[in-house]
Amino acid sequence: MEEKKIKIAVLVSGGGTNLQALIDAENSGKLKSGTISLVISNNENAYALTRANAAGIPTRVITKAAYGAEFETELIKEIRGAGAELIVLAGFMSILSARFTKEFENRIINVHPALIPSFCGKGYYGLKVHEAALKYGVKVTGATVHFVNEIPDGGKIIMQKAVEVLPSDTPESLQKRVMQKAEWQILPAACELVCKKILTGGDFMNVYKINDIAELISGNPYVGRGIVIGKSKDGTKAACAYFIMGRSENSRNRIFTEKNGEVFTRP
Ligand code: GAR
Repeated sequence: MEEKKIKIAVLVSGGGTNLQALIDAENSGKLKSGTISLVISNNENAYALTRANAAGIPTRVITKAAYGAEFETELIKEIRGAGAELIVLAGFMSILSARFTKEFENRIINVHPALIPSFCGKGYYGLKVHEAALKYGVKVTGATVHFVNEIPDGGKIIMQKAVEVLPSDTPESLQKRVMQKAEWQILPAACELVCKKILTGGDFMNVYKINDIAELISGNPYVGRGIVIGKSKDGTKAACAYFIMGRSENSRNRIFTEKNGEVFTRP
């Protein structure tokens, strides 16, 4: 029996090297929980369309010029029509409205060519991101894959990878290195992770700052489980703590006890 895969719609605007990384990942089996079912471009001249055609993936061109106020309605229609459950923005140079991002909550991911929250948000796209990084003089940059919400580049981060900035870098050389060393690696990896989560119904583990732990637990009727990592009070030792709360009344009615250096649960 064939395993179920999540249908993915990839939205592009330009060269499509990130799309190519996804196609290659699917062909090599690195992306196995999802399959690219549709490529939509908002630019009829995007080379990404040629890449999709070569891979035998159905394509659609939906431009603002042709659809005006109906642009997003048309996007939604196509994506729903293809049965896509995940949307990947791979160099898609158009900001999506809150209406669109709400329609596909936690089902849109984007690759951004910087370490968010640096050099991101409105106006930071493509080469401009690398020009800004070089102008600022950062020594390390990278790429981020994140969920897309109504704030440009503001959704929850899924994966990041750092890339060194070299003294000789131009925006073009930096862009190329960030793509090769970061984007083309983390986009397929994050895609696989998200597709797998959708298939298994799992949720993303939340990572909180230590100061938030008390706030997180107090008054929360079901804290679930967590791992706290930090330092001892005097700062000399690493410390790690695990907490767990049962779901049912029965399993909640237990406490951890220590006996002969081992931890047991006791009703
Ligand atoms: C990539 O570097 C991507 O991260 C960036 O545009 C480039 C597209 O290249 N996206 C953004 O800047 C979005 N804010 P590609 O078409 O070859 O994948």
